Amino acid sequence: MIRVVFVCLGNICRSPLAEGAFRSHVEMRGLSHLFEIDSAGTAGYHVGEPPDPRSIEVARKHGVDLTNQRSRKFVRADLHTFDVVVAMDHSNLKNIKRLGPTTAELVLMRDAANGPQGLEVPDPYYGGVNGFDTVWEQVDTATRLLLDRLS
Ligand code: 4NP
Repeated sequence: MIRVVFVCLGNICRSPLAEGAFRSHVEMRGLSHLFEIDSAGTAGYHVGEPPDPRSIEVARKHGVDLTNQRSRKFVRADLHTFDVVVAMDHSNLKNIKRLGPTTAELVLMRDAANGPQGLEVPDPYYGGVNGFDTVWEQVDTATRLLLDRLS
């Protein structure tokens, strides 16, 4: 079993999309029995809430249902219960590392893709719906290549 958690700031925009996209790739390859998949936020602003309606909508357009997800805060124990922790941006990565030592592999989401390294999945929260399409494209590609590497 490989345990993977996707992490952003609020766990309502980017990491729910990454969780949904990764889960979809895993299911399409018939590998669900090999993975435990989750997402979380480094901030607790939206704990218990479903994903942002704009994330739900963009995922739905691509055949992925996010409506059962609920926001939770990333906690120190996650650094030991997961094998791979995937951060959406450098700030998320810094906040994760600040919690303490980890046994997990820490990854920046877009470093899993075959492009330049160090790129972020930009926070779409204060922008328009186009930002969510961009996030979808980025996490769909990056999670597909992450799965190639992990499977
Ligand atoms: P996320 O986006 O980190 O992709 O879920 C955000 C959601 C909420 C806030 C910031 C970013 N907020 O400030 O409430």
